[in-house]
Amino acid sequence: MRLGGRIQAAAEVLEDVTQRRTPVTMALRDWGKAHRFAGSKDRSAIGNIVLDALRRKSSIGFRMNDDSPRALALGAAVFSGGVTVDEILEQTEGDQHFGAPLTEDQIAKLRGQIDLETAPEAVRADVPDWLWPAFETNFDEEAVAEGAALTQRPPLDVRANAIKAKRAQLDQKSAIPTEISPVGMRFPPVEGFGRHPNINADADFLTGKMEIQDEGSQIVSLLVAAKPGETVLDYCAGGGGKSLALASDMTNDGAIYAFDIDKRRLAPTYERAMRAGADIIKVVPPPAKSLNHLRGKVDRVLVDAPCTGVGTWRRKPDAKWRLTEDALGRRMQEQVKVLDEAKDFVKPGGYLFYVTCSVLAAENEAQVYAFLERTEGFELLSAGEVWEERFGVDVPKPWSSDGCTLTLTPASTNTDGFFFAVMEKTA
Ligand SMILES: C[S@@+](CC[C@H](N)C(=O)[O-])C[C@H]1O[C@@H](n2cnc3c(N)ncnc32)[C@H](O)[C@@H]1O
Repeated sequence: MRLGGRIQAAAEVLEDVTQRRTPVTMALRDWGKAHRFAGSKDRSAIGNIVLDALRRKSSIGFRMNDDSPRALALGAAVFSGGVTVDEILEQTEGDQHFGAPLTEDQIAKLRGQIDLETAPEAVRADVPDWLWPAFETNFDEEAVAEGAALTQRPPLDVRANAIKAKRAQLDQKSAIPTEISPVGMRFPPVEGFGRHPNINADADFLTGKMEIQDEGSQIVSLLVAAKPGETVLDYCAGGGGKSLALASDMTNDGAIYAFDIDKRRLAPTYERAMRAGADIIKVVPPPAKSLNHLRGKVDRVLVDAPCTGVGTWRRKPDAKWRLTEDALGRRMQEQVKVLDEAKDFVKPGGYLFYVTCSVLAAENEAQVYAFLERTEGFELLSAGEVWEERFGVDVPKPWSSDGCTLTLTPASTNTDGFFFAVMEKTA
């Protein structure tokens, strides 16, 4: 396919996503099925344009003075994808697959006629209007920069599995060591129409020497600071990403119970643990009563709570525009529930960890403070000390609104957004 066809295809997929509310991965898959002639390079080019357009839907719409799917696709190709207006003009001349030629007005807009600096802050940050006050409260003068960092293309991070290999033993020549996590390697964000390597087919992955895991997720797992021999409960284990990181950090010594209310989400954990040689992971499907023997006995209980996923907008940009106040409210109710359920497993002197991949205070600090208010016998500790112990002082610093909890963000730590709090059970 030529450039014009790719841009037009991206506009069709964007129409599916924005007007029919199809999730972007499904819309891209459907387009691929209906256009089997398209090669893998075409698919990644189209995917990049679509994802870039969704990451910056608001600011591109402003700069184009038009938020139609075609304007978004054109804007994404130029403002994010590095395509020049002249390239579009040259390469689309007479190309029927591109549709109507660029208008004079579109050319002017793509050449930067409208200065983004004149836009309202929420638009410059590409944050939905209703969430902007939350960003401002959290990040103050950095709010635009934090929002904008969530519009960047993400890197692809992998983690060395200490049960099988050290980071230096991984054969990943196009990756660089991660800055904060001592066990991570990073494939930088793709440029232009490029794509990341297929890790699932990589020998290091297939032999269990490495796992795919964002550096932020690696960091919060390392902050749990689980020691060999301890008993850990991963209460919202999902696909087991953090259980695997914990098993690696514990050098496969001790016990990790991986539980999730949703059996289907938990399912990949069996195979992943096997590949990693992490035999200390015991997958516990629902019902939760299977965990009864662990009440009051666990050294470290991790609650990686269900959340809005605001911290992962770089990877799932359509979620940004789909999120509603109602959905946020539902996640907050679930957060109260999981904390209240999980706390009972912590032994006296043990620790309860609360993690989300959100940067919204309502899901983070507010949940922790409300939990401490309604629950006897837990005390909030400072996560900063463990941070220094594990990562030293010469690495980028996360946010902390209170000197105890930590918030990682793309702009501060160059990771996905994550919140981390640790509480000790004192009585
Ligand atoms: C953020 S995801 C976990 C991701 C996972 N820890 C990882 O690292 O890949 C949150 C999980 O919480 C689970 N969940 C929601 N409510 C729950 C509850 N009451 N008890 C246990 N798990 C729950 C959801 O099914 C979901 O898999």
